[in-house]
Amino acid sequence: MKDQQISINISSGAIEKWRGSGLAIAVYDDGKAQKAVAQCGDTIAKEVQRLLKDGWIAGKAGETLLIPTPANSGVAAQRVLLIGMGDPKKVNPEGLRTLGAQLSDACKKHNINSINSLIALDKHNGIKGVDAFEYMAEGVLLGSYKFETYKSKKDSDKDKDKAVKITFACKKNESTNAKKQLSKVEKICRGVALARDLGNQPGNVLNPATLAEQVTKTMEELPVKVSVMSEKALAKKGMNGILAVGQGSGTPPRMIVMEYRNGGDKQPLAVVGKAITFDSGGISIKPSAKMEEMKFDMCGGAAVIGFMQAVAELKLPINVVGIVPTAENIPSSSAQRPGDIIKTGKGIYVEVINTDAEGRLILADALHHAESFDPVAIIDFATLTGACVVALGKHCSGMMGSDDKLLDRLKEAGEECGDRVWPLPLYEGYQEQIKSTVADIKNVGGPGGGTITAGCFLSRFVEDDRPWAHIDIAGTGWDMASSKPHFPKGATGVGVRLLCRYVEKHIV
Ligand code: BES
Ligand code: MN
Ligand code: ZN
Repeated sequence: MKDQQISINISSGAIEKWRGSGLAIAVYDDGKAQKAVAQCGDTIAKEVQRLLKDGWIAGKAGETLLIPTPANSGVAAQRVLLIGMGDPKKVNPEGLRTLGAQLSDACKKHNINSINSLIALDKHNGIKGVDAFEYMAEGVLLGSYKFETYKSKKDSDKDKDKAVKITFACKKNESTNAKKQLSKVEKICRGVALARDLGNQPGNVLNPATLAEQVTKTMEELPVKVSVMSEKALAKKGMNGILAVGQGSGTPPRMIVMEYRNGGDKQPLAVVGKAITFDSGGISIKPSAKMEEMKFDMCGGAAVIGFMQAVAELKLPINVVGIVPTAENIPSSSAQRPGDIIKTGKGIYVEVINTDAEGRLILADALHHAESFDPVAIIDFATLTGACVVALGKHCSGMMGSDDKLLDRLKEAGEECGDRVWPLPLYEGYQEQIKSTVADIKNVGGPGGGTITAGCFLSRFVEDDRPWAHIDIAGTGWDMASSKPHFPKGATGVGVRLLCRYVEKHIV
């Protein structure tokens, strides 16, 4: 949940009138303060300069220094918070998001309950004030997320009397725009928070049935039509990929389909997300180290759900179909076995070599189902392969697909929003690796190029001429060791902002 104790406001009024308990001013590591410090008058500007010169603060990114407001400065705020922005030539959107989260953390730490920030009054490294504001607000909201459902003593209770109101000063002619941006960012970050909430739920609470129920409930108030395909409906469509994966579990699989139509007769965009509510590996059981993290194996689905909520709240003039195949991969006497051969919904026969390569089996049926909506493009998100974590680590997701224009656009959207993606090739040779002796294809492609052969497998279930992108978020979907202030430990909600950015630029 987003921490209700933080609120963001915009003001274009005169600085002298600012009462609040604090005033935030940015300083750089070149020993200078931001230009707008001049607007606070000589007394403050000189004092800030002195503190920088005497080394009280170096201006390194994230560094903070809190001082009492110099006497007779003419500014009503009681304290001044200096916050480091690092190298002025290296300021970028992600740095500003980080700074936003650091600013709100500093307020909490120092019991500042209302602060006025000058930071978005200046251009920083070519980034306009209003854009800097948008990035910082995003950082504040992303960083204020907390998952405390299962904590008897909640931080947010302790913080009850510590509500923080952050007011960003902005230029008069930018304030209307800033307000619009703030409302947009708030909706997008609510989508991220929903994806994180779902991701963080444990497997004993979130299973295919409860996930479907929760989606239905969440979308009730929104113009999103939800239909849930039961085991029976899946069987009727011959979707044995998803059925086989879930057949060992007491909670049978579901396919959740969300439709948002506000774009007239435009072809919809289809977004698909893997939601294995717990991946034990099945009969090909995983080792126990870190197996608990496999409750996050539904973060692809969570991204799609968070995105659908954001799109609906933003009332975007587009058509989108969100498809979330969900199952629990767990061994029992009814579980699928290595060696089993299944006929997928598309009719392709698959030999199951390893029951732990289950994501591609549920996605096979989901991608095939997405095709029935004749979408302009299909984008899927999945915590699909450990190999992706080996290849790219935690700093970007792996991306593959069939359409260079779509991939280029996603790459660019990722750089801008911070949910970065990096392309991997789907050369023909990799397809050879998933040939089966007894069936059409097998579900593992051998030791080399595990992320790519998984992508090759998926490619068989989309039409050749359909623009399609597959994003492997195995490394980025969650982070239990995060040190980023705008990414609390746990599910990251990765994918929601990428999709929002992409549709805003290319579909709207
Ligand atoms: N959910 C896992 C992938 C995964 C592993 C994500 C570690 C994040 C961290 C997926 O279902 C899986 O088990 N994949 C196997 C495939 C293999 C058997 C071909 C893997 O990556 O080991
Ligand atoms: Mn698996
Ligand atoms: Zn999995």
